[in-house]
Amino acid sequence: KNIAVFASGSGSNFQAIIDAVQMGELAANLSLLVCDKTGAYAIERANTARIPSFVFRAQDYPSKADYEKEICLLLKNSHVDLIVLAGYMRLIGPTLLREYEGRIVNIHPSLLPAFPGKDAIGQVLAAKANWSGVTIHFVDEGMDTGPIIVQERVRIEENESRESLQKKIQAKEHKLYPSILQMLLTKGEVERDEKTCLN
Ligand code: GRF
Repeated sequence: KNIAVFASGSGSNFQAIIDAVQMGELAANLSLLVCDKTGAYAIERANTARIPSFVFRAQDYPSKADYEKEICLLLKNSHVDLIVLAGYMRLIGPTLLREYEGRIVNIHPSLLPAFPGKDAIGQVLAAKANWSGVTIHFVDEGMDTGPIIVQERVRIEENESRESLQKKIQAKEHKLYPSILQMLLTKGEVERDEKTCLN
């Protein structure tokens, strides 16, 4: 099966997926990286791993539909089966959703539905919660609202710093994401659907 990873930033989850494929723990072909920012570190990770990367800047398109149509055409040409969002800081719109519904997954650093959106780690610390965690879910039209696939908890200690919580959450993410992708692909939940992007 062919995977496309979407990222906007550092891409440490992308790296964990690359490593899992290279170690033979994730039986998938990493077809390409889609990035919405020039200069994102994720692009360097793609280059090092010899994975093609494509930058699509939303501001270069007249509308979100045009932006996503272009991405969709690339994905179809590359026979992508599964879209993996890994720190992609943009809401998926109807154009991509229509073509890939049920085949787009996201990882979020909180126990959804608590603390959706940006800076979930800052939000959970401000709320003085005792627990946070990681959620992997299918993507729908909402912000971090789609059907949950798996969650894992992380204990927040007293006087926990942002850095230490982030470190614990990321360590969990890097283990969990590749293994869940492997599960989704082997369970046959992800079937390719050859539509055209234009209808
Ligand atoms: C991760 O914490 C992920 O849960 C969230 O964005 C962050 C991306 O980090 N969606 P990285 O770019 O994979 O390092």
